[in-house]
Amino acid sequence: MTQDEMKKNAAWAALEFIPRNTVVGVGTGSTVNHFIDALASIKHEITGAVSSSVQSTEKLKALGINVLDLNSIDSFSVYVDGADEINAQKHMIKGGGAALTREKIVAAVAERFICIVDQTKQVEVLGKFPLPVEVIPMAAAYVARELTKLGGRPVLRDGVITDNGNVILDVHDLAISKPVELEQQINNIVGVVTNGIFAQRPADMVLVGSATGTQVIR
Ligand code: 5RP
Repeated sequence: MTQDEMKKNAAWAALEFIPRNTVVGVGTGSTVNHFIDALASIKHEITGAVSSSVQSTEKLKALGINVLDLNSIDSFSVYVDGADEINAQKHMIKGGGAALTREKIVAAVAERFICIVDQTKQVEVLGKFPLPVEVIPMAAAYVARELTKLGGRPVLRDGVITDNGNVILDVHDLAISKPVELEQQINNIVGVVTNGIFAQRPADMVLVGSATGTQVIR
């Protein structure tokens, strides 16, 4: 079974956990694209979606799913998103698709975060996947120097501008033993919009797609 088929298994398994007649939070990425396909099959049973990127918004709309402005909603029950890495504490690295800031905002409003991944995303220690950091463009060199002081090797993601008009530094060589603390520390650097550690608000449930089916980790 291919990695994409395992992503698809996890994504479709999420349908079981989507409450009906309510708004659904939707992440970004190739796993989430499968989830949007799944969501379209129950589109008449949900009120609509809140999206975390231009890419997901376009796909949701193309499939006839109503997309709502996050500012028009006080809260909603479930946010579904993928991850680049996830550990046993359900802390994640996200942002491989450069949508980390909007993802973190939508996740913050949701009551529950359901993470959908294939089994290759499970790790013991976060950091093998270079940590994405969204940065205000004029601060990129300064932030890169500060990230180097923290032991990382930041590399500007070539040609990428986020939906918010910012740049991404991918930080290599970090072994993230204290994700909650490092998330806060990096966010404290002036010029950082947010970083791709999702530990202060971890996932609540993980659906892990594999060749033998989908494992539910509560
Ligand atoms: C985008 C993300 C994605 O969730 C993450 O990159 C995983 O992507 P994929 O499902 O394509 O493997 O954080 O910013």
